[in-house]
Amino acid sequence: MKNVIVLGGSGYVGTHLAEVWLKQDPKLEICSISRHGRPQKLSSYLENNDQIQWLSEDIFDIDSYITKLPTKVDTIVNLVGTADAKSTELFMKINVEPVKIMIELMDRLSIPKGCFISGVIGMPFKNKPFIASKQKAETLIRESRKNISIIKPSLVYGDKPEVAAMVPFMKLMGKLPGKSNYKPIQVNQLAQEIVEVCNK
Ligand SMILES: NC(=O)c1ccc[n+]([C@@H]2O[C@H](COP(=O)([O-])OP(=O)(O)OC[C@H]3O[C@@H](n4cnc5c(N)ncnc54)[C@H](OP(=O)(O)O)[C@@H]3O)[C@@H](O)[C@H]2O)c1
Repeated sequence: MKNVIVLGGSGYVGTHLAEVWLKQDPKLEICSISRHGRPQKLSSYLENNDQIQWLSEDIFDIDSYITKLPTKVDTIVNLVGTADAKSTELFMKINVEPVKIMIELMDRLSIPKGCFISGVIGMPFKNKPFIASKQKAETLIRESRKNISIIKPSLVYGDKPEVAAMVPFMKLMGKLPGKSNYKPIQVNQLAQEIVEVCNK
């Protein structure tokens, strides 16, 4: 049996990750931590799946939930982050501080492996603080010397109507010389990438 903790597992990437991963590993147990816990809308696959536990906790208050986590954890995935914060300080809080939480949980629970989702492009007018915060997070990870994989997606798309209009533009950008990392990625493909780096 494999135990995985997902910080922010109830969000867009997290719910797709859970479905992709659980379908591939029937013995997987996922513990998602997010403030609102179990999402109101879930796919029929996740709806009645008892291999995923939806904890409703603020990740920043580790002592309030650490005893609820499995004691033997194989991997932790950090999906808490934003491209749409209101200030540089908030970008730092939401994109950088969770990395410190991930590292502390790895220390306290002896978790051998982690995965962090960074990014290559932010929203219009918010690109600079987004990129700066993700770069700071990556630096922290490298300095920690922990076994944490970093995945850097561009726009993530799939069943999210609000990003559909940007997909053709990002596909074009991805064709420019030296800009192939701007190519958008389908959410289930990103989920698969996360599964693969965590299973390595
Ligand atoms: N979607 C994209 O196009 C894209 C592109 C590049 C990179 N990324 C990165 O990929 C990661 C996942 O993105 P996403 O689209 O899945 O984001 P999302 O849908 O906004 O999900 C974020 C998750 O974090 C949780 N969260 C936020 N603050 C929290 C806190 N203090 N304590 C506990 N949970 C908290 C949210 O749940 P609650 O609100 O209930 O707490 C939610 O589950 C992020 O780091 C993002 O920057 C995304």
